[in-house]
Amino acid sequence: LNSASPPARRKWLADFSECLFSFVIQLLPTQEELAVKEDVRKLLERLIRTIEPESRLLSFGSTANGYGLRNSDMDLCCLIDSEERLAASDLVTMLGDLLERETKFHVKPLPHARIPIVKLSLDPSPGLPLGIACDIGFENRLALENTRLLMCYAMIDPTRVRTMVLFLKVWSKRRKINSPYKGTLSSYGYVLLVIYFLVHVKNPPVLPNLQQMPPLRPIPKEETYLGGFNTWFFDDIELLRQRWHSENTETVAELLIDFFRYFSRDFPYGVGVASIRAGLLKKDSKGWQNDLSASRYNDARERNRFCIEDPFETDYNVARCVTKDGLYTIRGEFMRASRVLAARPERAILALADLCD
Ligand code: CTP
Ligand code: MG
Repeated sequence: LNSASPPARRKWLADFSECLFSFVIQLLPTQEELAVKEDVRKLLERLIRTIEPESRLLSFGSTANGYGLRNSDMDLCCLIDSEERLAASDLVTMLGDLLERETKFHVKPLPHARIPIVKLSLDPSPGLPLGIACDIGFENRLALENTRLLMCYAMIDPTRVRTMVLFLKVWSKRRKINSPYKGTLSSYGYVLLVIYFLVHVKNPPVLPNLQQMPPLRPIPKEETYLGGFNTWFFDDIELLRQRWHSENTETVAELLIDFFRYFSRDFPYGVGVASIRAGLLKKDSKGWQNDLSASRYNDARERNRFCIEDPFETDYNVARCVTKDGLYTIRGEFMRASRVLAARPERAILALADLCD
């Protein structure tokens, strides 16, 4: 379609792509910030080892998946390799006490949360002008694997995939629709929507489906299970880049415009489930229906307004926090973004300012 577009439209799309690209670049974390975060991780790991000598502290989420923005939180996961280990809730309490005694962090242990964590924060300092916020959880191996999956997708087509994801993260934060506690969607949810769109909606696809790759090497596809879930995916990105090329040549601008159009108009919110593993699924095939005959207080109905399947934990709806109002607001924002972009203001930079205003 690109080559068939009239020159003025093509020029505008090229300009807008350029704007998006330079916009996200200046929001990336500095080398200094990354170095400070790595120092913090090492310090915390040393301290945890005084309680559990066989433990490792690993980064996941945006510090590790290639979609990190400046000053984003640190998500850390503690893995313990020894057989007889303390219960997570005890570890959280002990670690909380230790960090309170030995460090300058503000510490908040949450031993009784669904997933017990220690929340930490550090006041601003010259190296970290906005301070630091960090959550430490235990044994969350699925989160480490889904982080690696998202990172692999980012590596296949860094320019288009990372630019789109980073832009959507900033946009959703500025438009205040990135907060699961208030009924909208987590960053993780938005990243899954972008990947779903690039793998399953775009034709030809921009990304292959790493969880269903035909064999690229003469090794049978192994199955790897974690907590009963198959976490296998094709992770040899070097080889993939030699053997697989997307036929899709659209620019980031075109993809973004189409993304907003698809999620404001075409995605079947009422009956559909977005799955990066399997494409568009039906709510009732997963037992996630929110049929109208259900009572007003029906929990399942409230939880399944918007459905995004977790790539590994397939019975987990990543968008379960999205409320009726939240979904209405999110769709309204997708429509607003579509409108702004359809108007194609004369200078592309104005579209960007308007989008995030
Ligand atoms: N995660 C998850 N299930 C969720 C939410 C998050 O497994 N419902 C895990 C994922 O591994 C995800 C990580 O927690 O990569 C961090 O989630 P989130 O904070 O939403 O995403 P980030 O990429 O860290 O975004 P931000 O920069 O906004 O913190
Ligand atoms: Mg995070």
